[in-house]
Amino acid sequence: MSQLTGKDRERYVRRTFSRIAAHYDLMNRLMTGGQDVRWRRETIRRARLSPNERLLDLGAGTGDLAREALRSQPSAHVVAADFTLQMMLAGRRHSALSFIQANALQTPFAANTFDAVVSGYLMRNVGNLNQAIAEQFRLLKPGGRLVILETTVPTRNFLSPFIWLHLHVIIPVLGMLVAGNGEAYRYLPDSTEHFVTAENLAGQLRTAGFADVGFRRLMGGTIAIHWGEKPVEKPSS
Ligand SMILES: C[S@@+](CC[C@H](N)C(=O)[O-])C[C@H]1O[C@@H](n2cnc3c(N)ncnc32)[C@H](O)[C@@H]1O
Repeated sequence: MSQLTGKDRERYVRRTFSRIAAHYDLMNRLMTGGQDVRWRRETIRRARLSPNERLLDLGAGTGDLAREALRSQPSAHVVAADFTLQMMLAGRRHSALSFIQANALQTPFAANTFDAVVSGYLMRNVGNLNQAIAEQFRLLKPGGRLVILETTVPTRNFLSPFIWLHLHVIIPVLGMLVAGNGEAYRYLPDSTEHFVTAENLAGQLRTAGFADVGFRRLMGGTIAIHWGEKPVEKPSS
């Protein structure tokens, strides 16, 4: 499943998230012991939203990052976009957020629209990583901030056996018991292990034109928050 690319991957991902949408938020809290709430706060803090600025939460799912953005900056204009209807419907049940159905590889927004583009656990799912990065670059205004929260391959350390157990046993069992879908929660470790390393993703952001690129690992190295800025074009002299 993680080897799928392009449209095949999109179909698989949409079907998987449609099936787990109803239990998605609860599973996130259980899998991370509630830590994902803190990581979302940090993700939004790094987006450095000022009053009235525009933020896009791409691959928003049920809209947790978008809601955190509105909590931290209530006057911000926040758009939550995702291509899985069921995830957005699950998010609509407990908030007044406005969602838009869109593919992260080709959104309907004009270039230079947003002051910040954030995503949570989107990038390892997309059918074409370079295209997703290029699209986010296009959407940002010059000076705009990109922040990506994503799972990542941990570097080997003394926690490695416990991390393996958590990813390959505890999460699929929880997925089976809570969401009634162990396969979807085997996709999580599988897609993480086949995703680019944090260093590699940072390199791809730089290649796409982002400046001030950096990342920070969390949760024993299994999660990373990445950031970068679209450079302000220098006026020609
Ligand atoms: C793991 S969920 C993350 C949801 C939410 N961002 C969060 O932080 O919990 C991944 C989401 O990305 C969406 N997604 C995956 N590929 C996408 C694409 N190409 N375009 C739009 N949404 C996509 C899925 O539908 C799913 O809702």
